[in-house]
Amino acid sequence: MSTRIGILTSGGDCPGLNAVIRGVAKAAYELMDDVEIIGIIDGYRGLIEGEYKVMKQSDFSGILTLGGTILGTSRQPFKQMRVIGEDNVDKVKAMKANYKKMKLDCLLILGGNGTHKTAALLADEGLNVIGLPKTIDNDLYGSDVTFGFHTALDIATEAIDRLHTTAASHGRCMVVELMGNKTGWLTLYAGVAGGADIILLPEIPFDMDKVVKAVKKRAESGKAFSIIAVAEGAAEKSEPKKRRERLAARAEAGYKTISEKIAAAITEKAGCECRVVIPGHLQRGGAPSAYDRVLSTQFGAYAAGLIQKKQFGVTVAKVGNTITQNKLSEIAGKAKMVSPDDQMIVVAKDMGVSFGD
Ligand code: F6P
Repeated sequence: MSTRIGILTSGGDCPGLNAVIRGVAKAAYELMDDVEIIGIIDGYRGLIEGEYKVMKQSDFSGILTLGGTILGTSRQPFKQMRVIGEDNVDKVKAMKANYKKMKLDCLLILGGNGTHKTAALLADEGLNVIGLPKTIDNDLYGSDVTFGFHTALDIATEAIDRLHTTAASHGRCMVVELMGNKTGWLTLYAGVAGGADIILLPEIPFDMDKVVKAVKKRAESGKAFSIIAVAEGAAEKSEPKKRRERLAARAEAGYKTISEKIAAAITEKAGCECRVVIPGHLQRGGAPSAYDRVLSTQFGAYAAGLIQKKQFGVTVAKVGNTITQNKLSEIAGKAKMVSPDDQMIVVAKDMGVSFGD
């Protein structure tokens, strides 16, 4: 009797997804006899609509270094999962029915916070679910690191490195806006790695006057340029707390992003010419870093071991130097935020970095 393993990738893609898929598959074939792997297409959409393919062993060759996901992905907001839309589809009922139709013994779900909330819901509904923590934001509670984060960190750091030379040549301030709507781990680490002078995070609302003051202080010390690393979700203390209202207020004032607003303030009040750079989805593209290849392989192999032991309702994690697991029910929906007294914040402040607070 074969062990039928379903795999889906959900939410924003990132380098490392295929390395995890490869890790699970190769370890499962090694650990268990007669394994059948079912690739579910485009995340939860494929599970809802019953779109899948029976994978061949050869499908897992040559994908360790391949960015993106060979299965495709989609965003299916958790809050919509129990809502029956115009298509009159009961999504949870459809997912359970397709899980049964595919004759799955278990379902591996690779995704971030929202994906894990739906994974916990499916586990509560009786499906044998294992989560794998994916996101460049590194904001999954219970795991020190998620796959995708280190590759994005390398990309963002290289962007900041390159901005240093052009900023110094022109005596300009470069405002580099990095991904991270709700949490600032990527911006914090890339800011430290890239030697940014100012780092602005969603978790630490900032005072624009203090940002300007930090730029002016550097200018007075003879540094004609500054690098400002800002998370896309960062906000001024004075801005509306609700994201929609905040974005509307910025648009009203003529700014598409927080970075444009910061650049305008620095130009006007510090007299420093500014440029805004937004690497955007470059931070999610291309081949995984060596670190992420190793982490993804470790995560995949660990998940295959859980399948062999029939341990479900859990998500894989890295805690310290150990690959381990957490109960889905204990981590689902909990984001790991940057605490204002996080060690990395202290280190950055020791380097003289301003957080605008
Ligand atoms: O969740 C990861 C992430 O990259 C965020 O950092 C970013 O804000 C968002 O996804 C972008 O989403 P999309 O790829 O749907 O534009």
